Amino acid sequence: MSVTWFLTGASRGIGLELTRQLLESSSNTVFATCRSPATAFALDALKSSSGILHVVQIDVMDEVSIKAGCSRVLELLNGTGLDYVINNAAISPVTDLPSSFDPVFAETIKCNVTGPALVTRFLLPAIENSSRKVIVNISSSLASISKDLGPKLTGYSISKAGLNMLTYKQMRERPDFIPILMDPGWVKTDLGGERAKIETHVSVTGILNVVDTNLRWLTRASFTNYLGKQIPW
Ligand SMILES: NC(=O)c1ccc[n+]([C@@H]2O[C@H](COP(=O)([O-])OP(=O)(O)OC[C@H]3O[C@@H](n4cnc5c(N)ncnc54)[C@H](OP(=O)(O)O)[C@@H]3O)[C@@H](O)[C@H]2O)c1
Repeated sequence: MSVTWFLTGASRGIGLELTRQLLESSSNTVFATCRSPATAFALDALKSSSGILHVVQIDVMDEVSIKAGCSRVLELLNGTGLDYVINNAAISPVTDLPSSFDPVFAETIKCNVTGPALVTRFLLPAIENSSRKVIVNISSSLASISKDLGPKLTGYSISKAGLNMLTYKQMRERPDFIPILMDPGWVKTDLGGERAKIETHVSVTGILNVVDTNLRWLTRASFTNYLGKQIPW
């Protein structure tokens, strides 16, 4: 039986590589969503892979788009459950400190917290139909207070801490769901920048290993990195 996966931000970076690796298996069906399917050429090229790919439009900063995209996914699933929801799309538009706090924060929260919250909300009927019910919220170690990573990237860090709290709330509301938080590491993508340490394919291989293989050892709402190492909250 096919394993069903959904993700946001599949046009590039970690989202594109997640889609690529998942489609290497013919037992996976992937609902890969992005803002602009018409220009997502790298994603489109994956249509010839072994797994089944459905590309669906979702802008996670637009509630109407989220609602329409999730409805389309429910329609395509036709009653089949959605096993894994990966909230991956995010922005980090500025490198602010508390003293240079940037009001673009409102947009960051909309993309990095409201988006994942609404995506999961509108996908609930399909998650409920699955026997796995896994929600992977892609966070960042910058969300951790205990790691003491300093004042950099203030707005982005607050948004990811908000996503962590959302994941805790999801875990407490739904004992039947497995929501987890994943830090992909410092990855060489547009968001991670050129000085990043980890190749995208290495991060994604680790993420899928933790999510797919080692999930039974994780507790719900656990915060781990791509190697399965626990991150303190
Ligand atoms: N790279 C790192 O070092 C690192 C570290 C910690 C955590 N993370 C997290 O890992 C995840 C993926 O990041 P990445 O490094 O792959 O970033 P990236 O290369 O900048 O890619 C971001 C993705 O998010 C999409 N996106 C942005 N705004 C969107 C919106 N409003 N609606 C839908 N999609 C939107 C982009 O789509 P478009 O192509 O349409 O712009 C793109 O596909 C994020 O949650 C990020 O916070 C990354």
